[in-house]
Amino acid sequence: MPVTDTDLTDADPALSSIGLIGLGTMGAMLALNIAEKGFDIAVFNRTHTVTEGFVRDAGALATRITPTATLAALVAAIARPRKIILMVPAGAVVDQQIAALRPLMDPGDLIIDAGNANFRDTQRRAAELGAGFIGIGVSGGAEGARHGPSIMGGGAPAAWDRVAPVLRAIAAAYDGVPCAAWMGEGGAGHFVKTVHNGIEYADMQLIAEVYGVMRDGLGMTAQQIAPVFARWNDGPLHSYLVEISASVAEATDPETGAAMLDVILDRAGQKGTGRWTAVEAQHLGAPIPVIEAAVAARNISAALDARRAGQARFGAAPGALPEGALTLDDLMAALIAGKILCYAQGFALLNGAGAAFDWSLDLPSIARVWRAGCIIRSRMLNDMADALTESPDRNLMLAPVFADLVQRHAPALRKTATVAMTHGLPVPALTAALGYFDMMRTERSTANMIQAQRDFFGAHGFERRDRDGTGFHGPWAG
Ligand code: 6PG
Repeated sequence: MPVTDTDLTDADPALSSIGLIGLGTMGAMLALNIAEKGFDIAVFNRTHTVTEGFVRDAGALATRITPTATLAALVAAIARPRKIILMVPAGAVVDQQIAALRPLMDPGDLIIDAGNANFRDTQRRAAELGAGFIGIGVSGGAEGARHGPSIMGGGAPAAWDRVAPVLRAIAAAYDGVPCAAWMGEGGAGHFVKTVHNGIEYADMQLIAEVYGVMRDGLGMTAQQIAPVFARWNDGPLHSYLVEISASVAEATDPETGAAMLDVILDRAGQKGTGRWTAVEAQHLGAPIPVIEAAVAARNISAALDARRAGQARFGAAPGALPEGALTLDDLMAALIAGKILCYAQGFALLNGAGAAFDWSLDLPSIARVWRAGCIIRSRMLNDMADALTESPDRNLMLAPVFADLVQRHAPALRKTATVAMTHGLPVPALTAALGYFDMMRTERSTANMIQAQRDFFGAHGFERRDRDGTGFHGPWAG
């Protein structure tokens, strides 16, 4: 007789309804969030003193938290069928943790990987463990994990349904709708989270570029830049990332009194999810030039010694803009257009991935899940959800509301990109957005030249404009 969830349910009220392994910042915050929403939770951390400290600091929530010192004790503390969240570093540690847990668990128990896994690992684990494993993307940083993240689930739908009540309860909500949803089978949840992070890189880079134009082109101080971002945050650019950009620009270093931004080294780290987005987009043949430019810019930022050598050899670009060359409104408009074009690429990538991996990715649902809780949350995502509901397969830049915005703001994007480039201010993500826009509105591209070259050196054949059919060849000599 098949074992059902009901057979396995252990009604002992002393048992926790869920478990969590890994009490680093994200795991600890998630556990507190779960406890706060009324679920009893058993926790385990490799170093037990961390667990003890966590429970000691949990205040009133400690009554809902069961600390455990071994994996066996953790498993024994959870009501069956068990649900155990892994919040451990992505990669081999997840496999090790699963291998250690499995012998202790029963059929029907569920492991939930909530880390930033590579979706290909999640695909593999889901294939190995079936309905006993799901991968969920969790966004929102520590604050989000504590008070309401955005959650992108993947795996067997029945397994998702079992843990969905907890995940919906702890997630952020937008207009009362929880930002937690099932995205598709296997690694779909982690794939969507990866693309979220790719877009996050691009959003951040676009903001950093207009910050650079203000700082180096317009000679503005961080204190002058802060209110500009704050003002933009009241309009179409209303978003978490613009909001925090205002806050960081405003902050001063308590030690030196200097603007915090001027104290921070211009070398950005990364854990790799943005890069994964670019890699997967290349596998899928999906154009995401703004995200790729952002990933490249982060890599170039890391090469500080090489940049120093470049400046020593060539000198810094002049940078400073002549009076009136660009206005702050130009920059805001450029950011609006750049952002829309970037998201158009991100959603088109998701569309392509859904088809390629046989996931029925629901693009409007993804936009809805991103409306609150996550790092890229923004007002625009609500309109994007509506536009994608109207037509999920249409490029977002062609949806009437976004087509109007792009039409209105593309001239400022062009002006900003060209003025910045003329004066040597690097704006690779803005120019990538502009290049994408120009290519995407050009019916007659220059790929006829590419086709001719391919045929010339490799007899690859081409199509003709004046006839149907393929495999035509040119009158090339030799
Ligand atoms: C989120 C963030 C989160 C983390 C990134 C940072 O959605 O909450 O994306 O996952 O901050 O991994 O990524 P990098 O270290 O690559 O910038």
